[in-house]
Amino acid sequence: MAALSPLLRGPALLPIIQADSPDEAVQIAAALQQGGIGSVEVVLRTRQALAAITAIRDALPELLVGAGTILSAGDALAAKAAGAEFLVSPASTPALLDAMLATGLPLAPGVATPSEIAMALEAGIHEVKFFPAHLSGGIEMLKALRGVFQQVRFCPTGGISQHNVADFLALPNVFVAGGSWLTPVTLVKAQAWSQITALAQQATELANQQKA
Ligand code: 3PG
Repeated sequence: MAALSPLLRGPALLPIIQADSPDEAVQIAAALQQGGIGSVEVVLRTRQALAAITAIRDALPELLVGAGTILSAGDALAAKAAGAEFLVSPASTPALLDAMLATGLPLAPGVATPSEIAMALEAGIHEVKFFPAHLSGGIEMLKALRGVFQQVRFCPTGGISQHNVADFLALPNVFVAGGSWLTPVTLVKAQAWSQITALAQQATELANQQKA
């Protein structure tokens, strides 16, 4: 299994795309790309999520596209078949880690506790999603984890915003910050693509200042 971090493109940001149609997903992705984003995570929370992954890959080949909210072996296989280039899950169990690893895709499984991090390490995984980041202790928790898990790097997600993203990215054990703050439902439903681009531009500037 290749690590996820070397594959990621653009700033150290991983916006979430939750779309009701492949067309909507492509519009969101294009707006993000216009704002400098190079990698996106399409969450498997809508019926059209798999089709959205395929559509983004076809329409925007320079964007790296992964699948998020992987909760089962079936999700992992379906995401790979749809063209996902990496997998993200909100949780870790031995079976879920095995299933994700079996796809051969880079991955960031979800952890929120030291024991879950240890489980990921036992499976040979050193890059994980820290979820829900804010509610699980946020920056102070990541600092504490760094002392013990020196070889582990995190993608904090859950409660990341324009106000705190720079603080998360300033941590040496954070390789990318993820979340939905660049793609708010209100802007998607209003088809306010230029506003999504503007949010992405601001976040890209913040991210590049921290992780240039
Ligand atoms: C996720 O799927 O990682 C979370 O739902 C993102 O959380 P957020 O909406 O607070 O960014």
